[in-house]
Amino acid sequence: MLHFKTIIEPFRIKSVEAVKFTRREDRERALAEAGYNVFRLRAEDVLIDLLTDSGTGAMSAAQWGAIMQGDESYAGSRSFYRFRDVVQDLTGFRHIIPTHQGRAAERILFHSVLEEGDVVPNNNHFDTTRANVEVEDAEARDLVIPEGRVPSQIHPFKGNIDLAALERTLERDGARVPLVMVTVTNNTGGGQPVSLENLRGVRKLCDRHQKPFFLDACRFAENAYFIKTREEGQAGRTPKEIAREVFSLADGCTMSAKKDGLANIGGFLALNDETWADRCRNLLILTEGFPTYGGLAGYDLEAVARGLEEVVEEPYLRYRIRSTEYLHERLVAAGVPVIQPAGGHAVYIDARALLSHVPPLQYPGIALANALYVEAGIRGVEIGTVMFGLHPDGTESPGAMDLVRLAIPRRVYTQSHIDYVAEAVIGVAGMKDRLRGYRIRKAPAVLRHFTALFEPLAA
Ligand SMILES: Cc1ncc(COP(=O)(O)O)c(C=O)c1O
Repeated sequence: MLHFKTIIEPFRIKSVEAVKFTRREDRERALAEAGYNVFRLRAEDVLIDLLTDSGTGAMSAAQWGAIMQGDESYAGSRSFYRFRDVVQDLTGFRHIIPTHQGRAAERILFHSVLEEGDVVPNNNHFDTTRANVEVEDAEARDLVIPEGRVPSQIHPFKGNIDLAALERTLERDGARVPLVMVTVTNNTGGGQPVSLENLRGVRKLCDRHQKPFFLDACRFAENAYFIKTREEGQAGRTPKEIAREVFSLADGCTMSAKKDGLANIGGFLALNDETWADRCRNLLILTEGFPTYGGLAGYDLEAVARGLEEVVEEPYLRYRIRSTEYLHERLVAAGVPVIQPAGGHAVYIDARALLSHVPPLQYPGIALANALYVEAGIRGVEIGTVMFGLHPDGTESPGAMDLVRLAIPRRVYTQSHIDYVAEAVIGVAGMKDRLRGYRIRKAPAVLRHFTALFEPLAA
């Protein structure tokens, strides 16, 4: 019997979308017009778009088929019950509240349960999660393990929360902690997984201190696959069994179905506590919609329901994790500094290490992301000082890291696209000494990375 080493895409392509090839000078002009901020580019001027894995995936024929089954009734639609049943079967949570995307679930949860001065511990808050905590005048406290802060350090579960630090927070500031959160996988820290053992530890601490435990579950399936392949004793279980156990350890979750829901839009808040659920539903009605659609069309609920079933299939997860690892391996082999080991949904280039001549407050991540666009038409995103360096009091300091994230949309690009990306990154790394930093010309007070205007600094 043959044993194949090649892991192929577990799908064939039924429908294609052309990409547009542009010239270098066109891209230079487009970037200048965009204020040197890749978020402000027109997507059609991008050849390979690795800005995010959020909502950018290709849906399956089964999802498109399900879309035609969408029930658009305002209240009590059949599509809601199908969605609710799939989410409940997976998570076991009692109350399932659809939202238009992850940050809506965050806003509704935090606005309903946080008070001024509260503290929310997490391994690492994602940017919208942090912003939704801070807008309530509460503190978003990042407690990832020390290994998770060192890009070059290899650890199988670099997304783990530091249990000793969490315990100290609960002992010292427990009265101000309304809930504990853990993000799986840890996007801000490099798409790194959290182990089952660590999550069990969080559960124990939360029990001891009588705190609810919530997951930011955007990439729960990728996390489950890492547990299966990296954690002792888990290899024989299916990703779905592992995911179910992970959810069973928590009291609720926020979810962006734009990631492991394999949908282009959607999300949910799921939780066991009835009082909190009632409060959240009231706020949902105010800003999102009736609790059986939460800002989504019936057909969106169908697409998410089917996506949640497909995402835990093992051939999909094997291909998904391997294709990210493949790009990572190529960059490592060429000596490009990246967060080690490969994350689930993205490869993170350590721009601070690569562009050591560009100080953090001149935004090496922006310099590298912009060079990748100009040289190769590839769009990545800075995750660093621009995203995290501005504090609520208006002061600025270097972010913990300066990274450029190349997020891989689900089921969209083939291996040759990824080979092109590897060639481009290696080429740009070879011209690093020519790259210069940037200054910010104009920026809003929160979530500035989305809209800030930059200016290149002179050589
Ligand atoms: C870990 C994490 N939490 C929350 C969100 C927010 O989800 P959404 O973009 O659907 O609002 C994201 C999105 O990228 C994320 O990666």
